Amino acid sequence: MSTVVISGASRGIGLELARAYAADGWRVHACCRDPAGAEELAHALEGRDAQVHPLDVTEASAIGALAAALSPEPIDLLINNAGIFGGEQDFGSVDYASWEQVWRTNVIAPYRVAEAFVPHVAASGLRRMAFVSSISGSIASVDAGGGYIYQSSKTGLNMVVVNLARDLAGRGITVLALHPGWVRTDMGGAQAPVSPEESIAGMRRVIAESGPERSGTLWDYRGERLPW
Ligand SMILES: NC(=O)c1ccc[n+]([C@@H]2O[C@H](COP(=O)([O-])OP(=O)(O)OC[C@H]3O[C@@H](n4cnc5c(N)ncnc54)[C@H](OP(=O)(O)O)[C@@H]3O)[C@@H](O)[C@H]2O)c1
Repeated sequence: MSTVVISGASRGIGLELARAYAADGWRVHACCRDPAGAEELAHALEGRDAQVHPLDVTEASAIGALAAALSPEPIDLLINNAGIFGGEQDFGSVDYASWEQVWRTNVIAPYRVAEAFVPHVAASGLRRMAFVSSISGSIASVDAGGGYIYQSSKTGLNMVVVNLARDLAGRGITVLALHPGWVRTDMGGAQAPVSPEESIAGMRRVIAESGPERSGTLWDYRGERLPW
């Protein structure tokens, strides 16, 4: 039996990740800001080997408390999924307060969660960390401006992933950045072409196929390696 911790599991991609791993027999620790309000998550995990935990990823004390509560349980896979898009990001009208909040959520928080769970992941059989990033953070793929907040945050996250891959290699931990596709969620919108189920199936395949030789790289949900 393998165990996974997932952040931002109340809806969207995180909810589907929790549902899919639990249905596949994994032990799931699904984290969200408001467990009492996460009815769809509770329903998805009914009868499964799963627990829902309160976690606002921008709260350092909450991260520490969860890591302590789960210690010394080995965690095979940590998925840093929670993320936000932010407000106005066009040149000349950037929302600075939002920019700071997005960096706290999308860049600093995933690092902090990873740092807290290194002992759990290092003690597991699989030893994997996956970070839900985006092609939007790929500097090589930028074709327009006006993406200061979200795009810079995912570029920052990608650099966190590369650094973690180097720092955690000695403990046998594989660290991956993933692009889920443009997915039909609250963030992706109703016109997005990829269903959460298709995205999650693809990302799960990439995670399962990725050993240490892939640590510190960016992959899309279809199994294609993406440029930084
Ligand atoms: N959808 C896409 O097309 C797409 C494409 C590329 C990358 N991504 C990335 O995929 C990830 C998931 O996105 P999504 O499409 O599922 O978005 P979503 O539907 O907006 O869901 C975002 C999730 O993140 C959680 N979250 C936000 N801030 C949080 C915080 N401070 N602490 C804990 N949880 C927090 C939300 O919780 P609440 O319910 O409490 O708000 C929610 O569960 C994000 O990192 C996003 O950047 C998405």
